[in-house]
Amino acid sequence: MPSRLVAGNWKMHGNRAANRALLDAVVAGIAGLNGVECAVCVPFPYLGEVAGQLANTRLALGAQNLSEHAHGAFTGEVSAPMLAEFGCRYVLVGHSERRQLYGETDAAVAAKFAAALGQGITPILCLGETLAEREAGKTEEVVGRQLEAVFRANDRKLFENAVVAYEPVWAIGTGRTATPQQVQEVHFFLRNRLQGTRLLYGGSVKKENAAALFALPDVDGGLIGGASLVAVDFLEIVKAAVRAAQEKG
Ligand code: 13P
Repeated sequence: MPSRLVAGNWKMHGNRAANRALLDAVVAGIAGLNGVECAVCVPFPYLGEVAGQLANTRLALGAQNLSEHAHGAFTGEVSAPMLAEFGCRYVLVGHSERRQLYGETDAAVAAKFAAALGQGITPILCLGETLAEREAGKTEEVVGRQLEAVFRANDRKLFENAVVAYEPVWAIGTGRTATPQQVQEVHFFLRNRLQGTRLLYGGSVKKENAAALFALPDVDGGLIGGASLVAVDFLEIVKAAVRAAQEKG
């Protein structure tokens, strides 16, 4: 199993001056923290500048979305070869905001997953149920369906080069974190299908709850939204992952 991963998802936040200050602080803070990989997924316009700032640092660059097509008449889209050219090591695929607000289907997500891997970029495949689905007892059915769609379109071996993030929709940006037991249940379900894949949890991960989440047997790190915009908070979360790595081995 590759090392644990803590990835920030800035979503549609940031500006050039604030990004620079935030990344300077994060890069300095993680310099002495070994045993956990760190990444930051930034909005497209900042990729070039952030790539320059992160060159020769331990903080990897990621994007938040990509097109399933390599090039062509797809106005407004950004392709995997373009992300590769900017040195992206990671890209989010199928974030619930993409699925819910922009109508991304399971099939489109599966094609984006393949497009990323085709360029040597590690997809972070996001899965998760809505509150209504959880309350109807359909969590495993939904997460299983989202995963199956990607299995159908991609060789299972490719998942060794991928990351999967469980992000319950009702826990994203709400301050309402899934309980450790809820997280472990879904991660156990996923681990049975994905032995060699890093499994992240995302959804209101904060410095206060990170240690309990990262201590869970089948959690290999986190995908962090709001708290990734505050350097000290993000660094505390990375430190919690480092401690969990030391304790869990
Ligand atoms: P929050 O950490 O802000 O809940 O966001 C989670 C998320 O969507 C990360 O991709």
